[in-house]
Amino acid sequence: MKAVSSATITRNDYLTEEVGFAEISTLPIDHPGAHDSDYRARRNYIAELAANYRHDPLHVIPDVMYTKEELDVWHSVFTQLEEVQQRRACSFYLQAKQDLGMTADEIPQLRHLSNKLNYFTGYRLAPIEGLVETRAFLSRLEKRTMLCTQYVRHHSRPDYTPEPDIVHEAIGHIPTFTNPDFADFSALVGYGARIADEQQLIELGRLYWWTVEFGLIEEGSEIKAFGAGLLSSFSELDNCFRPSIPKQKFKLKTVINTEFDYSMMQPVMFIIPSYAYLKEVTRQFIRSF
Ligand SMILES: [Fe+2]
Repeated sequence: MKAVSSATITRNDYLTEEVGFAEISTLPIDHPGAHDSDYRARRNYIAELAANYRHDPLHVIPDVMYTKEELDVWHSVFTQLEEVQQRRACSFYLQAKQDLGMTADEIPQLRHLSNKLNYFTGYRLAPIEGLVETRAFLSRLEKRTMLCTQYVRHHSRPDYTPEPDIVHEAIGHIPTFTNPDFADFSALVGYGARIADEQQLIELGRLYWWTVEFGLIEEGSEIKAFGAGLLSSFSELDNCFRPSIPKQKFKLKTVINTEFDYSMMQPVMFIIPSYAYLKEVTRQFIRSF
């Protein structure tokens, strides 16, 4: 699966590119696109757009003109996910994806999605080159901003990405930000990340992981998926509902003490009763910092 935002990067494990004024794109050696020079050049180009965005006084999120190859990857993943999501995703998510106008035929531009999110919950999106350190990533949520990548995973593995890409961001994360309680919860996590000590930050990272990335939610008598890591991976989305995967009611103390490994299928799931509940529990948690 993918990393959320906090992979510890060991320099020797990465191939790097120098692009102009700064080193922009890094790929782990075992990344599906690590040895594809065209892919790496494309990644660098898109990363450079994101880097330049921060120097744009008007802060207009740059559009990416996606290639046929990238559109094919999106179409393939979107179509396969759609079938599983209809059975497994929470109804709020399915409606939000429609409200945002997402289709298999077009990779949405962050600029459009940001405008729509801002209308629903005051959230905005900002492009980023790649993985970001945990505190930097989470603390931006306090300003109701989510950092998003714009590049597309390598075409050789449309079902897999070791890091967040636009498929993960747009299909996995962005629709849920149209929910007011989820948006407020995210902003609380951002505030918490800004004031947390190192141990509290680890615990916040686990809370984020077991909810925002891999959370399940009660829906009437059913259990549905709302975590982005589930909703953007058909293998994870089906796997997590297997009877062999333990599903526990969300308990904050358990969640913040449960470690995770982003490189493997998740061995346990936690179920929240509602986003409002998650928001309130998180508020109390951060009050203790
Ligand atoms: Fe994510």
